[in-house]
Amino acid sequence: MKDNNPVGFISLIKSNVPSQPDLTPWLVSLYVHEDFRQQGIGRALVDKCIEHASVAGFSKVYLYTSTAVQYYLNFGWVIVGEVEVFGKIKTILCNNV
Ligand SMILES: CC(C)(COP(=O)(O)OP(=O)(O)OC[C@H]1O[C@@H](n2cnc3c(N)ncnc32)[C@H](O)[C@@H]1OP(=O)(O)O)[C@@H](O)C(=O)NCCC(=O)NCCS
Repeated sequence: MKDNNPVGFISLIKSNVPSQPDLTPWLVSLYVHEDFRQQGIGRALVDKCIEHASVAGFSKVYLYTSTAVQYYLNFGWVIVGEVEVFGKIKTILCNNV
């Protein structure tokens, strides 16, 4: 938050890929306002989501992306597959909580 306005956003949801119901939970909708990037906010939001998943008893968290694969690889996520979403191939990554 900055002056009571959100500078970033992230969600943790149960299911994101109907064809892979065994994979849960999923990190989705990571976004940091352009004026606040490059300050570690994105990383902090991801870490907080992982912490929530851990407290809830999960041992892994999943996400898919086509534009930020390297972003997540840089802090320990691993590629575990691919999925087609609205005709586009996305990379599925996993983080051991
Ligand atoms: C991706 C995003 C959340 C990063 O937020 P941030 O707060 O700037 O990230 P951090 O400060 O934690 O990390 C910054 C580092 O990540 C790198 N990075 C940012 N976006 C990246 C991307 N798409 N791919 C690879 N690296 C990326 C930056 O170059 C920077 O690297 P450096 O530390 O070597 O300079 C932000 O750029 C954003 O909201 N982008 C638009 C939405 C989006 O792409 N969401 C993710 C899709 S799953």
